Amino acid sequence: MADDTFYGSDFGALQSFDPDIAGVLLSELDRIRGGLQLIASENVSSPAVLTALGSTLSNKYAEGYPGRRYYGGCAEVDKAETIAIERAKALFGADHANVQAHSGASANQAVYGAFMAPGDTILAMALPMGGHLTHGTKVSFSGKWFNAVHYGVDKQTEDIDYDQVEALAREHRPKVICAGGSAIPRLIDFERFRAIADEVGAILWVDAAHFIGLVAGKAIPSPVPYADVVTFTTHKVLRGPRSGALVCKAEHATAMDKAIFPMMQGGPQMHTIAAKAVNFKEAATPEYAQYAKDVIANSQQLAASLLEVGIRPTTGGTDTHLSLLDLQGVGVTGKVAEERADAAGIVLNKNAIPFDPQKPNIASGIRVGTPSVTTQGMGVEEMKQIASLIHRAVTQGDADPDHATSKEVRAEVTDLVTRFPAYPR
Ligand SMILES: Cc1ncc(COP(=O)(O)O)c(C=O)c1O
Repeated sequence: MADDTFYGSDFGALQSFDPDIAGVLLSELDRIRGGLQLIASENVSSPAVLTALGSTLSNKYAEGYPGRRYYGGCAEVDKAETIAIERAKALFGADHANVQAHSGASANQAVYGAFMAPGDTILAMALPMGGHLTHGTKVSFSGKWFNAVHYGVDKQTEDIDYDQVEALAREHRPKVICAGGSAIPRLIDFERFRAIADEVGAILWVDAAHFIGLVAGKAIPSPVPYADVVTFTTHKVLRGPRSGALVCKAEHATAMDKAIFPMMQGGPQMHTIAAKAVNFKEAATPEYAQYAKDVIANSQQLAASLLEVGIRPTTGGTDTHLSLLDLQGVGVTGKVAEERADAAGIVLNKNAIPFDPQKPNIASGIRVGTPSVTTQGMGVEEMKQIASLIHRAVTQGDADPDHATSKEVRAEVTDLVTRFPAYPR
């Protein structure tokens, strides 16, 4: 029988050995608790997930896969990885799961590794239109080593321009077509993407990093029946550890496994894999399914209330956890809005909007998401209040925390997060 008094996390020991880093851990907890967390890609993971992350499984080298390792002593971590794989397959109704990706970007790299050779063509959404760095941008391996062709959104609807996707696919005959991105507020038509991919003989890859938690909670349609491979992060709406994973069709199982290891990664992070297993169990509960629905209801209310005060959500609203807000109507840039919100205790990020006249580091928009505030128990009434707080901070506030409006809004934020705390004491 193992000593069950020690699993790995011992904050007292850290505090006495390294007060500098212990202090950072404490002040970060204060920061999370003290403000409104509206970054669409963040969440407040559970103590169970954090416990698995801070465990002795971090020590183990386990290159390979369960039952096929390059190191001895893997019997226990094999159990953790097998549980994680089986839970991921069940949660998403997938033929195959690989839970070893260190991050969303690593899972995405594996798609290139499995299906493409340098110089091959990928068709993906342009970054300034809502895509992601790993979808063929020039600063990423994906745009340096592969020929990336990009589609965007329709000027009128601001939603994905499917006719353009089809035309570009016919013209360029890509090896892989990617659907998904970082700032897409609307549902994606996976059936249409599948039809386009089939017509040109391409692999359909869905990067579901942002919305996979809504799929897990059955709050939006799943890409899994349509895609050859679905990559995702586990730390956004899904609310697990900071990491990545993928599910795919049986026919691609070997290629994807080989692309993750040994092509892209070395030893898997077994503590994170254990935390992913815990997260997949959490995400299969009725409570989580309700959470996923609440995230969307809150997001839609927030978008509607912001529209009422003159801050326009692109596409006119949202079907998901995030909204992309066009600030041109209130005459403020994304950069200024982010700074003013921050001074008022509201954490959000500037974001390019489609056809943005500003440079990306200035931007005309902000992106807001409801995963964290919903985890904290806030509902639609609080979203109305948050819209008003954002509006006041962004249009009347200042980057100076001592400005009267910053102080006034921050006091209301403090009251709100005291009533709905992250990690309640
Ligand atoms: C669509 C998409 N793909 C991939 C990633 C990369 O994930 P990670 O930061 O875990 O590498 C992100 C992260 O924001 C994302 O939004």
